[in-house]
Amino acid sequence: MAGEYGVDAEYVKEIDKTRRDLRSLISSKNCAPLMLRLAWHDAGTYDEKTRTGGPNGSIRNQLELNHAANKGLKTAVELCEEVKVKHPKISYADLYQLAGVVAVEITGGPTIHFVPGRKDSLESPQEGRLPDAKQGASHLREIFYRMGLTDKDIVALSGGHTLGKAHKDRSDFEGPWTRDPLKFDNSYFVELLKSESEDLLKLPTDKALVEDPEFGKYVELYAKDEDAFFRDYATSHKKLSELGFKPKCNFRSNLAKGVLGFVIGSTVVILGYLLELNKKID
Ligand code: HEM
Repeated sequence: MAGEYGVDAEYVKEIDKTRRDLRSLISSKNCAPLMLRLAWHDAGTYDEKTRTGGPNGSIRNQLELNHAANKGLKTAVELCEEVKVKHPKISYADLYQLAGVVAVEITGGPTIHFVPGRKDSLESPQEGRLPDAKQGASHLREIFYRMGLTDKDIVALSGGHTLGKAHKDRSDFEGPWTRDPLKFDNSYFVELLKSESEDLLKLPTDKALVEDPEFGKYVELYAKDEDAFFRDYATSHKKLSELGFKPKCNFRSNLAKGVLGFVIGSTVVILGYLLELNKKID
């Protein structure tokens, strides 16, 4: 039977078990940053105009995995495979996005609402859809606007760099953005605004967030107010993880629930009225 999101109840149950296995895997391997990067790189290829790319599991395709931007993500795909063999029903697309959500949550970040039901594809987009760290604000806008995302999404999502670090052999950059790269908090923005944190990494795209006035407003806000960052991050992460994916709302079951609610509500009101009337007659 189809459940709330158009996936069956069995699938939803399996998602819960997958979530538990991902929690255990990610904490035992300490690989939350890599898993978040995997989820982002699978989703971040989305092109709103042609409705291609996006969170569809295509990153497991050798061709896409070999794109320069995805260096190092083979390990993440292999780790996810350990969970996939235990839950073969779960699509790769859902698995990678769930891994990203779990990675944020178990490192202390906000809870991100997860809707299952993404379909898998093995069609990989052309190389070059992910951002180039050596560029600036206009490049960031070009890439994220193509996905249908906004300035606020760009800054909030860049806060994902609160986790992990760059590796010279993967990206030509080296080191963490924050002092505790396994803790999801707002320290990425705090460090970005400090001129003296020379020992920490600042990519040209990170610096662009401070230099651009529109982006800068959000950097200042998130550095001051972690709650605001967590709230916006959870919203933007959900958007990213659902690019091109329209969760099927089960219209019939929602309609049935609505009708039942209406009938119960009306019965209560009518009974109350009759009771009052009865009292008056007595
Ligand atoms: C805004 C544009 C972005 C650029 C230019 C960018 C660039 C990079 C680069 C160069 C690395 C280093 C890779 C390595 O050497 O291992 C990296 C790592 C990482 N990125 Fe981004 N990124 C961007 C956005 C994001 C977003 C939106 C997220 C998640 C929401 C994210 C999450 C991560 C994480 C968690 C790592 C650390 C991975 C690890 O420790 O293995 N990034 N990013």
